[in-house]
Amino acid sequence: MRKKVHDRYFVPYKSEQDIQKSIQAVAQRITLDLKDKNPIFLGVLNGSFMFAADLLRLLDFDLRISFVKLASYAGTESSGITTELIGINEDLKGQTIVIVEDIVDTGNTLEKLIKMLKAQEVADLHVATLLYKPKAYKKEFPIDYVAIEIPNDFVIGYGLDYDGLGRNLPNIYKIDNP
Ligand code: XMP
Ligand code: MG
Repeated sequence: MRKKVHDRYFVPYKSEQDIQKSIQAVAQRITLDLKDKNPIFLGVLNGSFMFAADLLRLLDFDLRISFVKLASYAGTESSGITTELIGINEDLKGQTIVIVEDIVDTGNTLEKLIKMLKAQEVADLHVATLLYKPKAYKKEFPIDYVAIEIPNDFVIGYGLDYDGLGRNLPNIYKIDNP
């Protein structure tokens, strides 16, 4: 069913079942690689809350969970200038970290976060993302754990928003180009 959010229409793109299957595959790979590493999973708010909740319930080994938020200057949202990391109150030095993202697009946001984490001298840094737009990605850092690769379409649902709306949708929708 087509859905109107603000001024735009969106069409169903990935069902709840598709999403869960993709997350299960990623959870298996993460388990194989990291089960003995005692990792800290850092969910990036707001978009990753649903993915983090589903992914982390599938991981049955010792791990820690934290959420962080990137603060950006008002008015520069589109350029994604991030300045500060809110919510890290653990010592990350020497730890294995897995960043949990909703979507990696150009990689600008991720790169800033990675720089901030590297400054804290983490031992080992990985990225798990629900969605990845390989054609938009412009950075070098490898994206280890991708649940779903998508083309350069704007998507909402399952944590992702269009101007604040749509995060609660259980399915992923993509924009219906006129
Ligand atoms: P960059 O380009 O820094 O973008 O990798 C990452 C951030 O941009 C937002 N983004 C999206 N949000 N649907 C969304 O709801 C999309 O298709 C989309 N593409 C990028 C998102 O906030 C992400 O963290
Ligand atoms: Mg985001």
